[in-house]
Amino acid sequence: MDIGELRRLIAADERAGVRPFFVAASTGTVNTGAVDPLDDIAVIAREHGLWFHIDGAYGALGILAEDAAPDYAGLEQADSLALDPHKWLGVPIDAGCILFREPAAPRDAFSMVPPYLRDEDAGELGWLSEYGPEQTRPFRALRVWATIAHLGRNGIICLVNRTTMLARTLAELIEASDDFELLAPVTTSVTAFRHRPPDLPADRAETLNGAIPAAVQRRGHVFLTGTRISDAAALRACVLHPGTTKDDLAVLLEEIRAAAQEVISHQ
Ligand SMILES: Cc1ncc(COP(=O)(O)O)c(C=O)c1O
Repeated sequence: MDIGELRRLIAADERAGVRPFFVAASTGTVNTGAVDPLDDIAVIAREHGLWFHIDGAYGALGILAEDAAPDYAGLEQADSLALDPHKWLGVPIDAGCILFREPAAPRDAFSMVPPYLRDEDAGELGWLSEYGPEQTRPFRALRVWATIAHLGRNGIICLVNRTTMLARTLAELIEASDDFELLAPVTTSVTAFRHRPPDLPADRAETLNGAIPAAVQRRGHVFLTGTRISDAAALRACVLHPGTTKDDLAVLLEEIRAAAQEVISHQ
């Protein structure tokens, strides 16, 4: 997030007589895994009375990686934080969660306890269903608890460190090659890049990169998604599986080269 632009947009809204009330920062964007400058955003949120939300659905746990932790300074100032245990923690889907600094606000917004559900013994926190739109729900928390109990704090730290390190190693392999181009710094465990066979003209490289993800998937050995970054086709590897190894990264690049050859030969 561009902080100058955030200030400019808030000022423009206020001049136009509308009142901004909410700012959503990211810790781990979908395309590049980037982490926003949370400390700066928290200051602006406080100055303007905005609710400060962080989308950490994918990347909040990245704070546990030793060399990424400083990028997360300010996370603790959020009013709410979305984080999906079904992503980096590997809990079977679906297990999304949101953490609130002050649970009273969401409870006020969502609480609806009809007379047939009133229970004087519900305790101070009330029913879980008072904190969101869902009433009848499965026991998702059991899966989250079991995963955390199995891995332990150190196990989770190892998982995050290892996958972050692998994404950085992939970036190094890309930078060391003459047919791949890194598109963004690696902060979490996402590596965004392009395939640039040296003798291929730029317009054909654009079509090629758009076609690579499906061609890679059809080959059936590795999985890779595509995206668009700065309006250009990009490849996006998100390393989350604890079983991923350095060798798999080399296989990934080889598979992309092979898939690219297939695409080029059919063009
Ligand atoms: C940054 C981010 N936010 C939100 C989502 C939405 O996730 P879900 O629909 O699984 O809760 C995703 C999913 O990829 C994500 O990466």
